[in-house]
Amino acid sequence: MRVEELPIPDSVKVILAKSGYDELYPPQADAIRAGALEGKNIVLASPTASGKTLVAELAIIKSIVERGGKALYLTPLRALASEKYEDFQKYRDVEKAPGRKVRVGITSGDYDSSDIYLANFDIIISTNEKADSLLRHRSPWIADISIVVADEIHLLTEADRGPTLEVVLTRLLKLNSEIQVVALSATIRNASEIGEWLNANQITTEWRPVPLREGVHHDGQIQFKDGSSRFIRRTDTNPIFDTAIDVIREGGQVLIFAETRRSAVEMGRKASALLRRQLIKPERRGLENIAQRILSTGERTRLGEALAEQVLNGVAFHHAGLAGGHRRIIEEAFKTGRLKILSATPTLAAGVNLPARTVIISSYERYEAGYGRYPIPVLEYKQFCGRAGRPKYDKFGEAILIARTEDEQDYLMKNYVMAEPERIWSKLGAEKVLRPHVLATIATRFATSEEGLIRFFAKTFYAFQYDPKMIRSKLGDILAFLNREQMVEFEGEELKATRFGRRVSELYIDPVSAVVLRDGLYTRSKHVTDVSFLHLISRTPDIAPKLYPRRGEDEMLELFAKEHQDEFMCEVPEYYGDTNGISYEEFLSEIKCARVLYEWINETSEDGILEVHKVEPGDILRMVDTSKWLLHATHELAELFGHKDLMKSTYELQIRCAKGVKTELVPLVELEGIGRVRARALFNAGYSSLDQLKRASVTDLMNVPLIGPSLAKKIKEQVGGLIKADEWEKLRSQTADVTEQSLLTDYRDEDSV
Ligand SMILES: Nc1ncnc2c1ncn2[C@@H]1O[C@H](COP(=O)(O)OP(=O)(O)OP(=O)(O)O)[C@@H](O)[C@H]1O
Ligand SMILES: [Mg+2]
Repeated sequence: MRVEELPIPDSVKVILAKSGYDELYPPQADAIRAGALEGKNIVLASPTASGKTLVAELAIIKSIVERGGKALYLTPLRALASEKYEDFQKYRDVEKAPGRKVRVGITSGDYDSSDIYLANFDIIISTNEKADSLLRHRSPWIADISIVVADEIHLLTEADRGPTLEVVLTRLLKLNSEIQVVALSATIRNASEIGEWLNANQITTEWRPVPLREGVHHDGQIQFKDGSSRFIRRTDTNPIFDTAIDVIREGGQVLIFAETRRSAVEMGRKASALLRRQLIKPERRGLENIAQRILSTGERTRLGEALAEQVLNGVAFHHAGLAGGHRRIIEEAFKTGRLKILSATPTLAAGVNLPARTVIISSYERYEAGYGRYPIPVLEYKQFCGRAGRPKYDKFGEAILIARTEDEQDYLMKNYVMAEPERIWSKLGAEKVLRPHVLATIATRFATSEEGLIRFFAKTFYAFQYDPKMIRSKLGDILAFLNREQMVEFEGEELKATRFGRRVSELYIDPVSAVVLRDGLYTRSKHVTDVSFLHLISRTPDIAPKLYPRRGEDEMLELFAKEHQDEFMCEVPEYYGDTNGISYEEFLSEIKCARVLYEWINETSEDGILEVHKVEPGDILRMVDTSKWLLHATHELAELFGHKDLMKSTYELQIRCAKGVKTELVPLVELEGIGRVRARALFNAGYSSLDQLKRASVTDLMNVPLIGPSLAKKIKEQVGGLIKADEWEKLRSQTADVTEQSLLTDYRDEDSV
C-alpha cells in the first residue's frame, strides 16, 4: 500500500513523502485495512520498530481533520512523551479547517492541576499518570477527545504502571463510548484478549524492518534459531566481550543488557579496557569531547567521572542512577555511532528507542530479596531482542544469550529463543493498587453508589480477565477503609467523597499517604522542624525510590534518629528483637530517606550523598520529584485541616527540596538557569537578593565563578536593570561560551524507571 493512495489530506502526504515514507510497512497496511482510518478501534501488536507510531499518527490526523475533536496520545514514560511530541511536530502546518492549523501540545509534571490551557491543542501527548490526574481534575476539554492512542499497551501487565492505563481507558470510554481507541503493543500471546476488551479489531504481526537473528553463545560458537552458527574469535576469557569485539570489528554496535546497575558499570569498565586498543585517532578526539561534556554537565560526581572514563574508549554504561543530563549525552552519542558499546540495565529496553546491531543478554536471571533467583519472562527477553538491528544501518540484527554449559544452551534455546511470550495479566486486583482508583472514581462522580462502583470496575481489563465477582469483595474492603478515614460517606444509598476525599484524589496521592500526613499534622512533634516534614513524607507509601539501609549504616541512622527524636510526627518504634522488629527496620528505611533529603536541602553535594549513602544522582532526582509532590500535598492538607501555622514552612520546604538549597538561596534559585551550585557562587560573591543582582552589571556577574556572559545576561533580563549594549557586545566577542551552554542544560526531567 502506497502513502499516495491513502485517504488522507494531500498536505499530509507531502509531509510524509518529505520524511521518507513512500510505501507503508506491512503491519501499517494491515491496520489501515482493519479500519484505523475509519474510526474503528484497533489493537496492533507487532515488533519494535515495525512502524506502529505512523498508524496512530494517521488515525489521529484523519480523526481531527474529518471528525473534529481532540486526540490524546498516551505513553508510559515522560521520555517517550517527549519523543512522540517531536514526532508530531511534522504535522504542525496541516490545516484542520481553512486557515486553522493543527496544534500539538504536551503535558507532564504537576499532578495537581487541570491544565486548562490544553483546550487550545488538537493533539495532546501525555503520560498515563498525567492523564489520570487530569481526569481527576475533570479538565473540561476531556469531553472533546474523539480518539485516544494507548502506546505500549502490553505494559498493562506491569504492577506499577499497568493499572493506571487500564483505569484511564475505562474512564475515557465511560465518558464517551464512541471514542476511537488505537492500542499499540509489543507482540504478546493474548493481544486478542485486549482486542475483545476494547471492542477492537486486532492485528498481530511478526514483521520487522530489519530481520532478527536470535542465538545462544556457548564455547566460542553462536547457535542461531534457524540452525546456522557462527564462530567467534577468542580474545578474552569472557564470551560477552569476545562477541562484542567481533561485532565491532565488522562495523556494528553492541548493547549489553546487564542484570544490575553495578554489573552494568563493571561490564562497561571491562569492555572499555578491551576497546582501548581498537580506536583510531579521530575517533578518540570525538570521544574526548563527549567525555568533557559529561564532566561539565550538572554536578561532578564519581559516577560521572567513571562514565567519562569509559566514554574515552567508546564505551558507556547506562542506568537509572545516572544524572538525566549524562543519560541524554550517552544516548545521543550511541545513536550517532560514536559509542560502540553500551552496557545497560533492563530499563533501557522499555525506554527511548536506542537500537544496536547486536544485543547481548548477559544474564537471563534476576534476583529479588525474599524470593531468590528466577528466570526472566519471555516477554522481557523479547523486549531486549527488540533493540537489535538499526533500521537503515544494519542488514540484520542479532540477539545473543550467553550459556555456560551445553545443557544451558539447550535450555535457553527452548525456553527463550523458540518460546512464545507469555500472556499478559491485569494487575489492578491488588488492594493497594485499587484503593486510589476507587477513591478517584467516587470523587469524580464516575460512580455515585456502591453498585455504580461495581459496575464501573466491571468494565476494566481486570474484570474482563478474571471473574468480576472477585472485585466485589475487594471494593467492599476499600470502601470500608475510605469511609472509616472520612474520605467517603454514604447518604442513604448515595456514595460521596468528602472534601478531604476529593482533595486527596486531586492531589494524586495514595489514600494511605493522606492518612499518614493528616495524622502527622494533627499529632505534631515537640519541635516541628524540616526533619519533621521530611520524615513524615518518607513514611508514606508514595515516597520513591524507597531507600534501604546498607550494611553498617544502621548505627549512623540511629544516631540521626536520636539527635532528632523530638522532631518525629509519629511514635518511634522500639528497637529490634521484640515484636516490633519489622517496623523498626521500616523506621530506619524512613530515616534514611529523610536523612538523604535533609542533606540535599542543606547543600551536601551529589557526590557527598553518593559516597556516604550510596544514593546515585538519578535516584536523588526521583526523590526530589516525589518529595516536592508530597510536600505540596502536605501543604494542601495543612490548609484543609486548618494548620495555618505550618503552611509557610511546608511551602518553603517544597522549593528547597526542588532545588536542594538552604533557605538563604531560595530567592536566587527561582531564577531560570540558576541551580544550587551557581546560586551558592552568587551568594558567596555577595549577591543574596534579587535587588542586589539588579544593581550589578553584566561584567560584575561574569566575575562570579561559573557565570559566563549568556547566563549573566539571562540573569539581568530576569531581575531587571540595565544591560549596556556596548558592554555586552564587547564581552560577547571576547568570551567563548561553550562550556557554559552545556552547564545550562536543564536535566531535571526524569522518568521513574
Ligand atoms: N512506512 C515507512 N517507511 C519508512 N520508514 C518508516 C515507515 N514507517 C515507520 N518508519 C520508521 O520506522 C521507525 C520505527 O517506527 P516506530 O517508532 O513507529 O516503531 P514502533 O513499532 O512504534 O516500535 P516500538 O515498539 O519500539 O515502539 C521510525 O524511525 C519510523 O520513522
Ligand atoms: Mg512505538
